[in-house]
Amino acid sequence: MTTAERPVGEIGENGSICDIWDPLNPHTMYDFYTRARAEQPVFHNPRLGFWVVTRYADIDEIENLTGGDTVSANGALNLIRPPCPAALEVIVEAGIKVDNSIVDEDPPDHAPKRNALRERLHGKIVQTYEPQIRELVTRKLDGIVARGEADLVRDYVHEIPAWVIFQLMGVPEADMEMVREYAKGNGKFGFGIPTDAEQVEDAQGIAKYWEYAKRHVDARLDDPGEGIMSHYIQRLREFEDGRLFSVQDCYTVMLQLLFAGHETTTNSAGNAFRALLEHRDQWDAVCADPSLIPAAVDECLRFATPVPHWRRTTLKPLTVGDVVIPAGETVMIALASGNHDEHVFPHGDQLDIHRANARKHLAFGRGRHRCLGEQLALLELKVILEELTRRLPHVQLVPDQEWIYNPNVSHRGVEHVLVTWDPSTNPDPADRP
Ligand code: HEM
Repeated sequence: MTTAERPVGEIGENGSICDIWDPLNPHTMYDFYTRARAEQPVFHNPRLGFWVVTRYADIDEIENLTGGDTVSANGALNLIRPPCPAALEVIVEAGIKVDNSIVDEDPPDHAPKRNALRERLHGKIVQTYEPQIRELVTRKLDGIVARGEADLVRDYVHEIPAWVIFQLMGVPEADMEMVREYAKGNGKFGFGIPTDAEQVEDAQGIAKYWEYAKRHVDARLDDPGEGIMSHYIQRLREFEDGRLFSVQDCYTVMLQLLFAGHETTTNSAGNAFRALLEHRDQWDAVCADPSLIPAAVDECLRFATPVPHWRRTTLKPLTVGDVVIPAGETVMIALASGNHDEHVFPHGDQLDIHRANARKHLAFGRGRHRCLGEQLALLELKVILEELTRRLPHVQLVPDQEWIYNPNVSHRGVEHVLVTWDPSTNPDPADRP
């Protein structure tokens, strides 16, 4: 039995917390963090070279310090495993040069770039996207309602967040499937520990993705048109006579948004399906009263956090609790752990869609880098759950199914949620076979 396969109680008996931390094992994660918060809430892991911070209050403080003179956002996207020579060759040949941009950028450049994107992603404007999102969700459900069995991740939700962000970014419908395919390996490449062969394969996909992002941006340089990227280009050109504008930055933003916009939301939906269907009373409550859905979405984001870890870099020695983290170190803020911290969320390991403070969760981060796609993601998740609970309230989880997660430090989502139902009892007669 490998360390990763053993339950955390067992592996922890004789080892120190810092040695048994395994951020690639999503199954033992929450048990491990319960123990870490009690015994050693801040620790250094020599294997990956990260400092790990597990308590809500400490994570909150680091998030608020980010962008000041003690903590930098830089390094948030560094590859967990540096590329092997063959993968590096693919990257160099493709001319991929990813700049720091927005998510891993500090003041003063961070705010104007963030604002340029925010103008297309704030709550009011996002509400106007709802009809398009509902139409897409309806189309996907139309395809499965009469079947009686489905994988809610692959058959239902998989394409939705990708298609939404692609549409907003102006990617033509004909290109969407191709672009999504290119992006497939991006998560493993950046946040997993892939083998050499996997790295090369993923790098080849990313090279095609990069080429596409370049063409997409280049086409908008002279003829901006609609879409988030066009808006971003325009705004940056206007800002201080274009001081911040560079095509390289635009390629980077294009690359990152396509990824940030779909992997996270797809994972969140899968995790929410699993959480609610495993707590049948809460699923039934949501089906009976759809006005509970926004609160249920927040509670699911807290309970099964889709971005469990995020990274920061110390610029000066940083005191967290009774530990001093030296300057120049990588700090892993364990958002998933903070979201189960009993000091903020009583009985944090339990799902409770009526939890009064679920909105305080850390799933979208905090402070000046708080997720820019939050409103869009919340809307998508709301519509996805509204339509599913309305048309298929009677779905049942296939018993004893295996819960598979990608081995990924920063993106945790269940890969399949298998369900069955009797289509002859679908509530809407038009949905019956
Ligand atoms: C449920 C789905 C999502 C989750 C859980 C999520 C989570 C996160 C987290 C944890 C961060 C880092 C926050 C920090 O550094 O404090 C982040 C940043 C970001 N996210 Fe999301 N995200 C989601 C959906 C989206 C979507 C749909 C988009 C795009 C439309 C998006 C775009 C961004 C951007 C641009 C940033 C960087 C913001 C900045 O650094 O100023 N995200 N997200």
